[in-house]
Amino acid sequence: MKQKFDGYAASYDEWFMKNDKLFESELKLFKKALGDISGKKLLSVGCGSGLFESNIDASGIEGIEPSSDMGKIAEKRGVNVIKYGLIEDAELPDNSYDIIYFNGSSSYIKDIKPVYEKCLKAIKPGGKLILLDVPKESAFGFMYLLGSALKTYDHEYLRNTMPECPYPLALADSGVWHTSEDKIRVLKELGFKSFTFYQTLVKNPMYTNEEVEEVQEGYKSGGYVAIIAEK
Ligand SMILES: C[S@@+](CC[C@H](N)C(=O)[O-])C[C@H]1O[C@@H](n2cnc3c(N)ncnc32)[C@H](O)[C@@H]1O
Repeated sequence: MKQKFDGYAASYDEWFMKNDKLFESELKLFKKALGDISGKKLLSVGCGSGLFESNIDASGIEGIEPSSDMGKIAEKRGVNVIKYGLIEDAELPDNSYDIIYFNGSSSYIKDIKPVYEKCLKAIKPGGKLILLDVPKESAFGFMYLLGSALKTYDHEYLRNTMPECPYPLALADSGVWHTSEDKIRVLKELGFKSFTFYQTLVKNPMYTNEEVEEVQEGYKSGGYVAIIAEK
């Protein structure tokens, strides 16, 4: 079955290459959220092409990825792809991972609660679930929802507001954007605790590739937000 990211592996990576400063800002957030991973066992749900993982030591990182186009590149970049498929269909061992993370993947999953519940079981006591995403309520979220509703970014509503190289419309359109509050509520309902939040891309989208941003605490301003919760 064709997956959402099949056929987009090249344009996905290319988008980050063209938006190099945005990528660096997100990478800083990614590294800050993961913390020291040496000796730890990690699972990247929706590891994609392993672009972020290629910038860290990926030796302890397993991946799940439905798109074989993306996953094959991730394997070349050192991620141990344990399943080509959806997290919904994966069987995970109990109490096994120090960290399970979703870098941008929750935004393509409609029903997040059973998926996070599955991860909760698979995380070791004291381990972490880390969710990094474009919040639905952010300027980026609005831009993707509007582009998706209009079926184009090339519309008078968006004129002179867009970044030079926007995220591929087809990928914005196939997203299921969640608010940070929605995800936090779901995690609390499942019993996750000790929350920490970091954010980046606090500038409006048309300016975010001008310079690399420093990670800030909180989740209410960023176009890319990390929610960290403990089991
Ligand atoms: C925005 S990309 C992020 C890729 C990668 N984590 C990164 O940061 O570059 C979202 C990824 O989630 C994957 N994905 C979508 N739905 C999924 C699901 N139900 N289970 C697992 N992965 C999924 C997509 O195939 C895609 O690779």
